[in-house]
Amino acid sequence: MALKVGKGATAPPFLVMDVIAAANARAAALPPGAPHVIRMEVGQPGTGAPAGATAAVAAALRSGDALGYTEALGRRSLRTRIAAHYRDWYGLTVPIERIAVTVGASGGFPLAFLAAFDPGDRVVLTAPFYPPYVNILTALGIRPVIIEAGPETRFQPSVALLERLDPPPDGLIVASPSNPAGTMLHPDEFSAIAAWCDGAGVRLISDEIYHGLNYDTPIASAASFSPHAVVVNSFSKYFSMTGWRVGWLLLPEDLVRPVECLAQNFFISAPHISQIAAEAAFDCHDELRGNVARYRRSREHLLDALPNAGFDRLSTAEGAFYLFADIADRSNDSVAFCARMLAEVGVAATPGVDFDRTRGARFVRFSYCGPEADMHEATARLARWR
Ligand SMILES: Cc1ncc(COP(=O)(O)O)c(C=O)c1O
Repeated sequence: MALKVGKGATAPPFLVMDVIAAANARAAALPPGAPHVIRMEVGQPGTGAPAGATAAVAAALRSGDALGYTEALGRRSLRTRIAAHYRDWYGLTVPIERIAVTVGASGGFPLAFLAAFDPGDRVVLTAPFYPPYVNILTALGIRPVIIEAGPETRFQPSVALLERLDPPPDGLIVASPSNPAGTMLHPDEFSAIAAWCDGAGVRLISDEIYHGLNYDTPIASAASFSPHAVVVNSFSKYFSMTGWRVGWLLLPEDLVRPVECLAQNFFISAPHISQIAAEAAFDCHDELRGNVARYRRSREHLLDALPNAGFDRLSTAEGAFYLFADIADRSNDSVAFCARMLAEVGVAATPGVDFDRTRGARFVRFSYCGPEADMHEATARLARWR
């Protein structure tokens, strides 16, 4: 007899993982001396944790500390550093009681969604979006409401788009800078959206994982605009610590205890050793700013060279390390287009279908967090291929 499999088990795959597998397979099959595969599909820094973080880990391991569980909300010393980060970057005074250390931003989403919403609630987000938002909401029985945003709002929500929703939703997820478009909400737009959320009783969830990776546009945190917003952040991107699995939530007061109880039951705590590394990473801004300078140069190069290679409709990417290219004039099947690009010129990029279920077949996401020399080589190959 077939046993029951829960609805949560029907979460769709994250297709970028299939692209990564195809790029790995091609790289493994290359004959010696053949041009290497250029990895523009990956959304993680090629650099490791900053040196100060790994040194702190080495010292902790030598000290003989048992490195047991921490409090569910995280080490107090790390939460204190995170609070100081809000003072340093945003001029905000944040009590450490509102900070919860999580297993990456990914571990923060289910905690935040479960604490803030009930099954059947409606949570709005704009396409294109980071796919796990929708997949996690769906697995939890919360209904994602997807509204399309285009280049006219830099693929971001606007108050005008939100006002069309009748009745208003229970929640709104925003990401600035965003994945896949790399676009940002400017502070005045963000403030207007937060005010609209508060006025309409809509819980704002702000994914700020790409903060620190902004080039000429200033970053703003939802915490500056609303005491009711949930901020999600992580050490994975600016801090270059993806595999350490550590992030944080900045919570409104009413959600602190619910999140703490959920975290106690779900994870007990984020990995202790990673929390030590994360704390030390706050002393590594010089090294981390070096990474950002490299992304800035790669971004400038791609914005300049991709149009000559036939990708001339690019998102106004002011942050993160992505460009979202409209390829409608070249293909209406981004999956096949990316497969051909990988097979014929060895450049891996992500088809837009993961990020936008209706329009994604005409978009491709290029990530530029790889080596700078690869970005130059990629545009040279793509220009010959066009
Ligand atoms: C927008 C966005 N949010 C969250 C995550 C997950 O990050 P973490 O490694 O902190 O779980 C990613 C990872 O790519 C992302 O792009």
